[in-house]
Amino acid sequence: MQRRHPLLLLLIFSVFLNFQTSNGHNITRLLAKHPSLSTFNHYLTLTHLAQEINRRTTITVLALDNAAMSSLLNKNPSIYTMKNILSLHVLLDYFGAKKLHQITNGTALAATMFQATGVAPGVSGFVNITDFKGGKVGFGAEDNGGDLDSFFVKSVEELPYNISVIQISKALPSAIAEAPTPGPSELNITGIMSAHGCKVFADTLLANPEAMGTYEDNLNGGLTVFCPLDDAFKAFLPKYKNLTASGKESFLEFFGVPVYQSLSMLKSNNGLMNTLATDGASKFDFTVQNDGEQVTLKTKINTVKITGTLLDEQPVAIYTIDKVLMPRELFKAAPTPAPAPAPEEAADAPKASKSKSKSKSKSALTPESDAPADSPDDDPADQTADDNAASSFKGGRFVAVGLSFLVVFLLL
Ligand SMILES: *[C@@H]1O[C@H](CO)[C@@H](O)[C@H](O)[C@H]1NC(C)=O
Ligand SMILES: *[C@@H]1O[C@H](CO)[C@@H](O)[C@H](O)[C@H]1NC(C)=O
Ligand SMILES: *[C@@H]1O[C@H](CO)[C@@H](O)[C@H](O)[C@H]1NC(C)=O
Ligand SMILES: *[C@@H]1O[C@H](CO)[C@@H](O)[C@H](O)[C@H]1NC(C)=O
Ligand SMILES: *[C@@H]1O[C@H](CO)[C@@H](O)[C@H](O)[C@H]1NC(C)=O
Ligand SMILES: *[C@@H]1O[C@H](CO)[C@@H](O)[C@H](O)[C@H]1NC(C)=O
Repeated sequence: MQRRHPLLLLLIFSVFLNFQTSNGHNITRLLAKHPSLSTFNHYLTLTHLAQEINRRTTITVLALDNAAMSSLLNKNPSIYTMKNILSLHVLLDYFGAKKLHQITNGTALAATMFQATGVAPGVSGFVNITDFKGGKVGFGAEDNGGDLDSFFVKSVEELPYNISVIQISKALPSAIAEAPTPGPSELNITGIMSAHGCKVFADTLLANPEAMGTYEDNLNGGLTVFCPLDDAFKAFLPKYKNLTASGKESFLEFFGVPVYQSLSMLKSNNGLMNTLATDGASKFDFTVQNDGEQVTLKTKINTVKITGTLLDEQPVAIYTIDKVLMPRELFKAAPTPAPAPAPEEAADAPKASKSKSKSKSKSALTPESDAPADSPDDDPADQTADDNAASSFKGGRFVAVGLSFLVVFLLL
């Protein structure tokens, strides 16, 4: 009964988000034709995995029938644990029935969406596929001690080479995927940040009980944190110390958003975002904008890049950013006498687009702009960003260019 609330929230979110994604395939619709897979389908929606699956191509979904799902659900996993388990059932490669039976050398390891979330440590999150005598194909999680005890049942849907859905006989057991995931209010977000390159920001937050309390109050309802990496935040400390007490609190709260946003949600929901510091007319907001695969956050003062995921477990996500994003409520534009001209940042300029047009549709349609991260950035040069310090995202490719063309065709 206690789970009803988060489930409902997830459902509302999924419905909301389904209006915003468009792609060649829709896993919910594909599975809807198969009533024996309805529970599996339902849980793909509840855990948001359906949306992640729809955004990707060249993937294989290992579907479980209702009986296999009920033995999984008998263990009463939380929705967060279910997400880990089911994401182990999404392979980041295309395996149609034919390819499964003709694996080179009879055995292969496939990366999964579980491995791609960054939650899975080391080699866990890979699935071993092996062809056995008599046309049998066995599947097992790599951390399952070499036990391949789930078998190919049948091909459900194949859209080569976008998505293949095959049914397997039972859930892939994996101690790591099944490990109980702590409830959001038990999360030690400053501990997670400290351990992964955002120690200075975490310590600053801990030293400000008002701001820290605001973060804690939002853990259950949904929270996304963008923490500046240590080098950047350390260099920024003199400016931070210069702020008034209420300025400090608002500044720290500015790096939290009171809703859960997975990376794919950020990619598909470009636009203005309120923060924990937003208070009526004091906007303290920023703009989320894609630049190819890269997600950037920008204010009138500067632009920062998301460089890594520290945690993505609904309802809490924590990402690292390469520089300190500055709210215009507390800082003046172009704070350093850098030679960089900033006329287009004047308040009345029609949409502060930089000289190199980086608008979303443009960059999605221009193949070369899919190059990651290295595009020059005309931010104030007062912060040194160490791009190498940041772990880059793992995971499959999004075919943004193709999708945009599809959208354009549909519009025509
Ligand atoms: C996928 O299909 C389901 C069921 O038909 C529908 O509710 C949902 O809006 C679709 N999602 C997308 C992204 O089109
Ligand atoms: C695969 O996806 C692309 C783009 O999303 C689409 O144009 C193509 O028709 C899809 N192929 C199949 C077999 O559905
Ligand atoms: C198959 O086995 C041969 C010989 O052991 C090896 O050279 C080759 O790399 C293997 N191919 C794959 C795809 O694992
Ligand atoms: C998959 O598991 C089988 C059985 O444990 C093992 O013999 C095989 O080497 C594994 N395949 C790969 C690619 O690791
Ligand atoms: C959170 O983590 C930090 C660093 O690992 C630790 O010092 C602190 O005691 C933890 N707080 C709680 C409440 O567990
Ligand atoms: C702190 O504020 C003072 C007065 O506004 C200003 O002169 C000084 O440059 C500021 N220091 C930093 C590091 O921003």
